[in-house]
Amino acid sequence: MTRHGNSQSSAANLLTDNPELYEARFPDPERLAGHWAEDCLSRYGAGPRVLDLGCGTGRDAAHLHRAGRTVTGADLSEAMLAYARTEHPGPEYLRADLRQFTLPGREFDAVVCLDSALLYCHTNAELDGFLSSVRTCLAPGGLLVAELRNGAFFLGRTELLDAPRVNGFTWRGTTYRSTTTLYVDRTAQLLRRTRVWTADDGSAPVEQRSAWRLLLPQELRYVLAANGFEVLALYDGPGPRTEPPWRAGDPEGTATDADRLHLVARLGRQLPTPVRTPR
Ligand SMILES: C[S@@+](CC[C@H](N)C(=O)[O-])C[C@H]1O[C@@H](n2cnc3c(N)ncnc32)[C@H](O)[C@@H]1O
Repeated sequence: MTRHGNSQSSAANLLTDNPELYEARFPDPERLAGHWAEDCLSRYGAGPRVLDLGCGTGRDAAHLHRAGRTVTGADLSEAMLAYARTEHPGPEYLRADLRQFTLPGREFDAVVCLDSALLYCHTNAELDGFLSSVRTCLAPGGLLVAELRNGAFFLGRTELLDAPRVNGFTWRGTTYRSTTTLYVDRTAQLLRRTRVWTADDGSAPVEQRSAWRLLLPQELRYVLAANGFEVLALYDGPGPRTEPPWRAGDPEGTATDADRLHLVARLGRQLPTPVRTPR
């Protein structure tokens, strides 16, 4: 933790600022997320041009590139983008804020948004900003494929909230330990996370805070419809981060009960007409 060794609390994100550490902490040696995304794209007949929003280290974008797609990866973190360009080459990588972006001169047949990146849209305005930006860069009939936490999981369940989760792993000879506490902020409708990192290299602990929007499945359907998308599939599993994990050929589920959501939506040709209440 040498880069952050002096700080007790940091707005920076140890994992997104250290992409190698991110891949060590969340390994996906089989590229299950990339395989799942490619499977959705081919099953629902997406064209070749794909934008991976919140692409992180670029490993999924590079998988889609190897599958024959023309891929652009976009992320807010310069560190992630630099790593992606050198370690997962093939796609074009550029900086964009998924909450509101324009990519002039570019058009895509599909947008993928994996591992809850969509939930960095904390407010309704940010969600609308995300969906209107996606709409602007998608070709008519283009697909949105996303994989994210399910807000409905937390209705009546506290198993992820009751006690901090401790995780340890060793990277480049240093053993890291993270203690993660999750808290439901009902007013903001956010799942807030506090994570304290310690390392056995003598550096001071680092505390980081983050949050995801708690989106309910019906709320997601509503905001998608309002932004001109037709939901083709929305289910809790199997997926690349479910237990048991998705395997090629698995049928899509029908429930939206467990802690992950998997979404495939198609952009309609025009925005729905707003409903006006008679005076
Ligand atoms: C949990 S990681 C997921 C990375 C990748 N999609 C994956 O599945 O491995 C979330 C990523 O979203 C990026 N991110 C966070 N807020 C963002 C924003 N507003 N716009 C674009 N990317 C953002 C982070 O930098 C990080 O790389």
